[in-house]
Amino acid sequence: MSNPYQDDRGNKDASITNPKGQGTLTPSPGTRQAMDTAKAFLVGDSMTAGYGNGPDILHDCTIAVDEGEIAVIVGPNGAGKSTGMKAIFGMLDMRQGSVRLDGDDITGLSPQDRVAKGMGFVPQTSNIFTSMTVEENLEMGAFIRTDDFSDTMAQVYDLFPILKEKRLQAAGELSGGQRQQVAVGRALMTQPKVLMLDEPTAGVSPIVMDELFDRIIEVARTGIPILMVEQNARQALEIADKGYVLVQGRNAYSGTGKELLADEEVRKSFLGG
Ligand SMILES: Nc1ncnc2c1ncn2[C@@H]1O[C@H](COP(=O)(O)OP(=O)(O)O)[C@@H](O)[C@H]1O
Ligand SMILES: [Mg+2]
Repeated sequence: MSNPYQDDRGNKDASITNPKGQGTLTPSPGTRQAMDTAKAFLVGDSMTAGYGNGPDILHDCTIAVDEGEIAVIVGPNGAGKSTGMKAIFGMLDMRQGSVRLDGDDITGLSPQDRVAKGMGFVPQTSNIFTSMTVEENLEMGAFIRTDDFSDTMAQVYDLFPILKEKRLQAAGELSGGQRQQVAVGRALMTQPKVLMLDEPTAGVSPIVMDELFDRIIEVARTGIPILMVEQNARQALEIADKGYVLVQGRNAYSGTGKELLADEEVRKSFLGG
């Protein structure tokens, strides 16, 4: 275990036993600051995980988002970005490490229980019900709610006016960018405290990408921290408070969006120069 203070014994007061708090990332090469995850709103801390009985995909990987922030995960195909998101959402067994939400250890919770606790997740694929209408998709998103969710639906339609126009159309008939709006809108229906998006701009044009990023910033401004994976690394880091570059399941670089954009090695290897 990389962090001796995570053992289930001794003094639990991290402020005494570990002055820096749990899960402080060491400075990644090329960045100047250590990233302190102790106060993060959502953190997958020192995660080692894989699928079934298969090999480890994530190796001691830490990803966090703070209140009021947009955090972005970038890195090559197959680096483990989606696996990291799934691990944080509770879709695979962690072999080491923990997940904390608003100070609570939620490592043992099912994805459903994490949704009830305030996590919203838009997976990379199969993130809408194509044969259902737009509005039915939003209703499905509200599945855990027993109260009146019409206000939330109105908010989603305010955020994505095109969805209101197309609310009675099958979601599968929409354009790629509009489908992503349905997926994000669906996740917002639970009134999440934190939103996780895996490649929300996959397969859309640069103009639609810009529009989606604007909407994502708008969601963040309403006070919902956002953790997202993006293949449009440069554009995503421009709107990121914090960025993580994953390589082969490990933290390769981390820093503010600005730091990563300015870092020569990161630029050369991951941002096309
Ligand atoms: N359901 C799965 N079962 C087994 N291995 C998987 C599964 N999904 C992804 N992997 C493997 O995990 C590694 C990381 O994949 P992924 O997290 O999807 O990468 P990224 O999102 O960064 O492109 C890859 O080697 C991939 O083959
Ligand atoms: Mg992926």
